[in-house]
Formats: sequence, C-alpha cells, structure tokens
Amino acid sequence: MVEGFDGRTNGHDAGYGSQVSRPTSGRTEGVPWVSLGRYMREKTLVKKLMPTCFDLFCGCGGLTLGMQRAGFHVLAAIDYDTNAIATLRANLVDQQGAGLAPVSHALQRDITRFQPAELATLIGVSNVDAIVGGPPCQGFSTARQVDGANHGARLKPDPRRNLYRNFLRYVDFFQPQVFVIENVLGIRTAAGGEYFTRVQKEARELGRASGRPGYRVHGQTEDAWELGVPQKRRRQLIIGVRNDIPGYFLPDLKPAQRTQTHVCLGAAIGDLPVLRAGSGQDERDYDLALRKRHIQKWGDAARKYLFEVLEINRTTKVTNHVARPHSDRDLRDFARLREGENSARAMRLRGIAFEFPYDKSSFKDRYTRQSRRYPCSTIVAHLSKDGLMFIHPTQNRSLTPREAARVQSFPDWFRFPTARTHAFRLIGNAVPPLIAEAVGSAIQDFLRGTRTPGVSLGTRRRERVQTISASLLGAGICTRNKFTLNSRVDAARILDNIARLDRRALLALPTEEFLRGWHALLFLLPELHPNNARDHGEGVETVVATQLMSPDFEELFTTRYARSGWPVALEHIGREAWRRYELDELSDEDLYCVEAQYAGLTAQGRPKSGHHRALTR
Ligand SMILES: C[S@@+](CC[C@H](N)C(=O)[O-])C[C@H]1O[C@@H](n2cnc3c(N)ncnc32)[C@H](O)[C@@H]1O
Repeated sequence: MVEGFDGRTNGHDAGYGSQVSRPTSGRTEGVPWVSLGRYMREKTLVKKLMPTCFDLFCGCGGLTLGMQRAGFHVLAAIDYDTNAIATLRANLVDQQGAGLAPVSHALQRDITRFQPAELATLIGVSNVDAIVGGPPCQGFSTARQVDGANHGARLKPDPRRNLYRNFLRYVDFFQPQVFVIENVLGIRTAAGGEYFTRVQKEARELGRASGRPGYRVHGQTEDAWELGVPQKRRRQLIIGVRNDIPGYFLPDLKPAQRTQTHVCLGAAIGDLPVLRAGSGQDERDYDLALRKRHIQKWGDAARKYLFEVLEINRTTKVTNHVARPHSDRDLRDFARLREGENSARAMRLRGIAFEFPYDKSSFKDRYTRQSRRYPCSTIVAHLSKDGLMFIHPTQNRSLTPREAARVQSFPDWFRFPTARTHAFRLIGNAVPPLIAEAVGSAIQDFLRGTRTPGVSLGTRRRERVQTISASLLGAGICTRNKFTLNSRVDAARILDNIARLDRRALLALPTEEFLRGWHALLFLLPELHPNNARDHGEGVETVVATQLMSPDFEELFTTRYARSGWPVALEHIGREAWRRYELDELSDEDLYCVEAQYAGLTAQGRPKSGHHRALTR
C-alpha cells in the first residue's frame, strides 16, 4: 500500500472492468467499486469518438491529465515508479467527478523490458492515434559539453541516454499518426547537441527500411508563462507526424481555453490557508473568507485560475498543504529576504549578511523568496531535497506540495502522496497539465483536419489551391492531384534555378518567384518541416534521393543535415523563406504551404484517402 492512498495495491493493472476503489477522500473507503458513469463513458463515448493515445514514462500523470482534458482517451500510461503509478491510478483512473474519460491501463512496468507487442496483447489494441511522453535524459546531463572528457567519440556508455529509443520502439510498432516527446531545454545542447540530433534523425527514419513512411519531425520550444502557467519554465518538444499525412503544426501552441496568459504566483496560491514552517495538515478545510478576499484583490485572473484550472469547486478539502520544517538559522535567513529577492542580490545591493554555512561565492543565490507579482521559478524535482529557492512570498517558510502543484497547474482534486519527498519529486518531474492540454489540443486540431476531408479547406483555401496549382502548372510542374513524370524534374529545375542564386540575387527575387521555388521545394520534399529550416545542427549525411526522376539534380538533395533532414544545398532558401516570413512578406499559408506538400505526397502516392490538409492554429 502506498502512503497516502488507501484501497489500492501496487504492481497491478487497473484495466477495464478491474475492480478499483476510491481514494481516501471517497465515501466508500477501501471498498471495491466501479462507477456506472465510468462504465457508460467507456462503453459509449470513449471507444468510438475519442482519439486515443499512450503516455510513456508517465510519472504521476501531468501529461496524461492534459491529454485527457484535450479530449483524448488514454489507453495506457506506463512508468516503473511505484509512487508515480499509484498516484496516477488514484487520480486518473477514478477521477471523481472530473468528467474525463478514465485512463484504461495504468501500468507499472520497466519500459526497457516491456515490449510493445506485450502491450498490444494486454490492451487488445494494435494502433493508436498518438503517443506522448517524456523519456528522461539524465544520462546526457552528465555528459561534458566543453572539455571533451565525456563527449563526442569519447562519450561514455550510459543506458539512460538511450531511453528515447524505447519510446521510438513503441512509435515504430504502433505507427501513431503523431508523437510528441517532452523534455528539458538542455537536450538541445547536451553532449554538444548530439542527443537532440539523434532523436530527430532516428525518429525521421523509423521503419523506412521496411517500407514504412517514417516521420516528419521537428522541434519546438514551449513557454509555460505564455500558456497560462504561473511559472518560468521553458521546455523542448519534439513532434513527429507520420509521413503519409499532410499538414504542419505551427510553432506556437495556443493556451488551453480554461486559462489566460501571464498568471502570476500571487493569483495562483494566495487563497491557501496561512501556515508556519513545519505546520499544516494533509487534509483540511479551505479558508473561505480568505478566498473571498483573495478574489476581490486579484480579480478575474485569480477567479479563472482557481475555478477553471485548479477546479476548486470539485473538491471540498485542500490536501498536501503541509509546510516542511526549517532550522532556526534558515528561518532567520529567510526573514532577511524581501519579496522577489535572492540571497545574492540581498548581499550585493543591501549588504545583508547571511548565516548560511555554504560557500558564499558559489551558493550565493541559494535562498530565493518568490514574488506574488511574477511567475514562480521553475518547479523542479530537487524541491524534494530542500525548498530554499522556493520561499513563500509573504510567509516565512518554503512552498508546500500543494502550492508547488498549483504552480504546476495541477487541479486541487489531484492528490499526491502524503510523504513530502515523493510528492515534491512527482510534482517537479511532471509536465504542467495546462501545457499538456495545449499540446493535446494542437494534436486534436491536427487530427481533426486530417480526418475530415474538405472541412478545413474553406473557400479561400480552395481558391488558393487553384492559384498554387495554376502557378505550378504554369511552370509545368503539376495540376492538383495529377502528376507527370516530368513534373518533378520541372519542379527540381525551378528549385535548382533559385538554389544557384547568390545571396544578393535571392534577396532581390520578387515574392511570386521566390514562392514558386519555395513551393517546389515543399512539393519535392514533403517530409521536411519548415520549422527545421533554421536548426540544422552540425553533422551531415548522404541520403539516396529516391523520389528524384533525374540524376541531374541529385546534388541538390543528397547531402543533408542529420538533425533537420534539410539538404545542405537548400539551407539558404530555408533561411530566406524565414526572413521573408518574419518581415510579413510571406504569410503562414505561404510558409507552411500544405497544398504544395499535399501535392508532393500525392505524387509519391502517400496520403491515404480521407487525409486532407491540416494547418493548425
Ligand atoms: C520526467 S518524468 C515524466 C513525468 C510525466 N511526463 C508527467 O507529466 O508527470 C520521467 C519518468 O520516467 C520514469 N522512468 C525512467 N526510466 C523508466 C523505465 N525504464 N521504465 C519506465 N519508466 C521509467 C521515471 O520513473 C519518471 O517518472
């Protein structure tokens, strides 16, 4: 039995029809129970209408929850950590009244040993719309980036570095339409960028050797503050779309509807009962008078965050709001800090002398008092060790697990283990559910676009297809959905013409002409993503240009960047496209020209019937 949760044991799967029991807050503590509502939801709505996904390396389920809220049916969530799976089960297999489709299988498994085929047999499913997850990359954070001692060819073997391959093994087996890997921003530079390149390159080539389409992969960063999370947190997403499916994800995620951007820390936690260090109960009533004053003070930002993000009306008790004890010396040091100040600043600007015994030069910013008016510092798993960088803005103590969970945008009904160390680790490791919901909604938009032919191709877009077709036709390339052997050669000729221009001539090229070349590029290389046109990394590789009809243009395509898949000879065209886009000379639809890509995929016999275009916004 895991501390903090009654009525559930570890190591067993909570699948359809398995008997599960409510968490301790429920009426029928420890009694086997299956809700009729859950049964109906699963039998009727869930299986037929909702897109499906798996969450690999799911932790306690921050990413899972966001996917559920975005309308996904999570068929399986897998992690080997006992506390993580117990927490996920307690909250997301049996959400009490949260109105979400429950996770079908919360599995405690080591993903390096558990085979995709075993999962398929266990859950009776061999395909899924999306696979999401955050394979850890600690193995790379230990790789030295500069002195070469554990870098490049001398990189020492570390199995943790290859966990992403286990994620890709599942992608290869289940061939989802979309996959998303979430990771720390540091993977861009870890081991000199090698890891970031490898993940993208291997994902792009998945299954190609056996004639499968492979994936169109690109990286994009997400900013929690812009997505309504009261926290400074930037993370890296690696997104793959199966190559037989047309469409591009645009680089900016939209915040989930339940939130607004730029919520500050004060609005998110200021209604919670006041505590002294070492005090608090694991479950207690809210302070309703304080909540009222809080909402009067912070207005709509607080109301929206409390009711829609934290869903405070779905629970009557506040849980995990227990402050860790601190030594008298630490408490005296905390009291020396002003709101929003760290110890380095207090020493430098106000000459404050701290008592802490750490080396004052290397640990100078060790103590930080957060500010109500700004986003909180990044919540990290290290919070489980000490809370010195997370001192409450106005109270003399560090943040409680509930406060950290709120900063991560977990709803108040989501309970964490009572053991503070476990709770902080799970919270710090999690993808904030609001970010996950934004990611899930972007995947949903994308899938809807690909599933509903014609729906997203409004009149304006239809006219545009005709214009582009006419322009390409004028150049002898293609008509919509109708291609000749020569058309690819003609497209290559157009591309070759602009590829040979020097920088000045390229800059001077009229927009229409540049666009024709750019669209010829997307037509010939529909497996590239425009987002990758500026992030190539260093390594190059030689590929066989199978789709070319004429050896004349091979040099344009055969030498490619390993990270982006972008041909080296066309790099400057990608940069020029972005330059024009940022000057508003090119629109979204010009840069992400799905019509040209769609035409290119059709020419390769790729898109399945029913797949149309999707430009998510
Ligand atoms: C960064 S956390 C994921 C957090 C999660 N995405 C969330 O939103 O809550 C990484 C997780 O990978 C899990 N993990 C690491 N190696 C694993 C393995 N071999 N098999 C299964 N899970 C593993 C860890 O237990 C940890 O929970």
